[in-house]
Amino acid sequence: MEKTIIVTGGAGYIGSHTVVELIAQGYKPVIIDNFCNSEKSVVKGLESITKKEVKLYEGDCTDRNFMAQVFAETNPSGVIHFAAYKAVGESVSKPLAYYKNNVISLLVLLEVMKEVNCNQLVFSSSCTVYGTPEKLPVTEQSPTQKAISPYGNTKQIAEDIIKDQVVSDADLSAVALRYFNPIGAHPSGLIGELPLGTPSNLVPFVTQTAAGLRNELTIFGNDYNTPDGTNVRDYIHVVDLAKAHVKTLDYLSGKTNFYDFINVGTGKGTSVLEIVTTFEKVSEQKLNYKIGQRRPGDVEQIYASVDKSEKVLNWQTELSVEDALRDAWNWQLKIG
Ligand code: NAD
Ligand code: WQD
Repeated sequence: MEKTIIVTGGAGYIGSHTVVELIAQGYKPVIIDNFCNSEKSVVKGLESITKKEVKLYEGDCTDRNFMAQVFAETNPSGVIHFAAYKAVGESVSKPLAYYKNNVISLLVLLEVMKEVNCNQLVFSSSCTVYGTPEKLPVTEQSPTQKAISPYGNTKQIAEDIIKDQVVSDADLSAVALRYFNPIGAHPSGLIGELPLGTPSNLVPFVTQTAAGLRNELTIFGNDYNTPDGTNVRDYIHVVDLAKAHVKTLDYLSGKTNFYDFINVGTGKGTSVLEIVTTFEKVSEQKLNYKIGQRRPGDVEQIYASVDKSEKVLNWQTELSVEDALRDAWNWQLKIG
């Protein structure tokens, strides 16, 4: 029998790609989303790709009665919890909204999971928990650092809450996946990232500039101590990232009273300038950009050690930054 997996935030960027991979591996995903940062048309895209009907509950993960009802009706064996607010800058101006949405949704979720004896959880964490790393690549043993934004703090708090809950609950097993920088879109061009307003992330800004929706990209500083002076990040194709979630469910299978956290990246650092030149190559056009000031809060360079993810998840990335930028551009051309 197909296992039902609740995917909170399943209409969002990473969640929607994960729904595709869950279906491909024989799971039955059930999406919970309130569409605060996504569109209902995503479900049509999912159904076109998978040729399956995708079950969706529209509602808020902080609403306890709603969540209890969904869990009672669907009897899931596990949950992948994507639903959260994710804009670092916005979290500084709206801290309470971020703590409320990101922390309360998790508390409600854990309570409801306990009530219905649903015992497997995959949580969306972030490499932001490492702050400015002292050594590269960043391993899971690298120390976490005090978060510099309320958003980052919600991820640290959430990891602690999950870890404490596992200690208290003999049946629960959970993994926090610490994502590095997800980019790209599904190669079909039917789902992708839908940033509202001016994107703060690099790749949507690049594709919108190339599409003529923005005048020019500003590269935030070229005087860093990196090979070309621009920041270095670990950009991972969202389809590879989505597959890591399915592998994590396999990893959790049969485990009880278990908590772990795992980096999900490519292991390779790419600079902002390399993103620009690779994008120019795949899109066969020049990108209008200038070098500007450093952006406050940016880490000079960070990329993941992938030893643990390869070993315990039996997973590795299959797609390159070039693939991701090609797919991101294809998606941008479709959404206009
Ligand atoms: P996203 O905004 O595209 O998706 C989040 C989805 O959750 C959206 O569809 C939104 O409508 C929904 N949602 C938010 N709050 C909700 C609530 N209370 N109830 C129901 N639905 C709610 O974001 P994403 O990029 O897909 O990120 C998914 C997760 O991964 C988030 O937890 C984010 O913090 C984390 N993460 C993202 C990145 C990144 O760069 N995209 C990096 C590291 C970690
Ligand atoms: C990447 C690089 C910028 C825009 C953020 C969050 C992190 C995680 C992923 C959620 C940086 C440079 C960007 C632009 C630029 N999210 N840049 N011009 O900052 O690595 O990570 O998203 O958990 O927590 O902080 O990603 O895409 O914003 O920036 O030069 O217009 O591109 O300086 O070096 P970041 P990003």
